[in-house]
Amino acid sequence: MREIKIKFAERSSDYAIAIGGGRISGVGVWAAATLGNIGKVVVISNTTVFKLYGDEVERSLNSSGFKTSRFLMQDGEEFKTLATATKALKAMSTVGLERTDAVVALGGGVVGDLAGFVSSIYLRGVRFLQIPTTLLAMVDSSVGGKTGVNAAFGKNTIGSFHQPAGVLVDTTVLSTLAEREMTAGLCEMVKHAVLSGPKLMNETRLWLADREDTLLRRLIAANILFKAKIVAGDEFESTSRTDARSRKILNFGHTLAHALEKATNYSYFRHGEAVGYGVLYAAELSKSLAFLDKNDVKLLYDVVHRGGPLPSLANIDFDSVFEAFRSDKKNVAGSLQMILLKGLGRPIIVSSDGISRRQHEAAFKRIDKF
Ligand SMILES: NC(=O)c1ccc[n+]([C@@H]2O[C@H](COP(=O)([O-])OP(=O)(O)OC[C@H]3O[C@@H](n4cnc5c(N)ncnc54)[C@H](O)[C@@H]3O)[C@@H](O)[C@H]2O)c1
Ligand SMILES: [Zn+2]
Repeated sequence: MREIKIKFAERSSDYAIAIGGGRISGVGVWAAATLGNIGKVVVISNTTVFKLYGDEVERSLNSSGFKTSRFLMQDGEEFKTLATATKALKAMSTVGLERTDAVVALGGGVVGDLAGFVSSIYLRGVRFLQIPTTLLAMVDSSVGGKTGVNAAFGKNTIGSFHQPAGVLVDTTVLSTLAEREMTAGLCEMVKHAVLSGPKLMNETRLWLADREDTLLRRLIAANILFKAKIVAGDEFESTSRTDARSRKILNFGHTLAHALEKATNYSYFRHGEAVGYGVLYAAELSKSLAFLDKNDVKLLYDVVHRGGPLPSLANIDFDSVFEAFRSDKKNVAGSLQMILLKGLGRPIIVSSDGISRRQHEAAFKRIDKF
């Protein structure tokens, strides 16, 4: 078992991320140690994940003295909405959850984002624990305190910053995860490796070559450590910062990813898959602006490719993608900020004003050949 501590300069309390195999059965002991008091907890999960791990988690919490109840949402991004959040809040209120009590989020990024969001607004904020069960949630969404739901006017457009009180990563639950979900998580890991530098990139490539379990645990820890460091230095993603360690850099690959998701009604790509294309797109643009060497671009194709197959772009029209760029949240003061690359570990934030539509389209056409 390994523990990574995340320490904040600003408002939030520090917390620890525990990583190991088979830890889910000890969640009660861990929750008691993390929360420091035994009270009520509401386990928020979805029907799929709860069926696999819910009983074990509840049993363990009960045997450590917690009084548990549950709120199970339907499975799917389309249920990450205010309507579901309202139902969750009602369930929390019905069992009389108090400010000293807590929420346990058991699931992937969808469950974690929704559970974190309701925890941030219920009684003006209660503590919550994250037990991520997808690779993507382990390396990315469970750490950092971004919570939220989707609205008709955009994905993740309603939300808050609310850090968890602790994160428990049990890598054995990945054994039940679909291959496609593993690929999605791997794409976010490639994003971290690109931003972090050659060391994490080499470790990622090494793991992709033989997919060995112990190495995966180490790699997950390295990803969390990287994200935690960036988040700790810029918890609220300052709008004015544009340096290479600002939290904004974690949006690398996400300009195209969000546009692809939007253009296909959020029903064609897994988020991480769209990020896979987004990483290649940002690399192609970086090359066309003479920031990035062609060998680095080649390496990125290779590593994304080894992560697994991505859905075809053949039926996606570039016009709809380009249109979606305009409503991107990374628009600051009217202009779209893009995270590009000068080399591994060397991101730069640039305004897209200097990038022509032709350059965008050419980059899109190139990644199509993936
Ligand atoms: N808050 C953040 O910082 C942040 C960062 C990245 C992504 N996100 C959000 O995360 C979401 C995507 O998360 P995701 O990729 O984890 O998707 P997800 O939560 O939809 O999970 C993917 C699928 O795997 C199933 N599943 C989960 N764990 C399982 C397990 N152990 N065994 C079998 N099946 C399992 C789920 O039921 C679901 O069907 C998006 O909504 C995205 O916006 C948030
Ligand atoms: Zn992402």
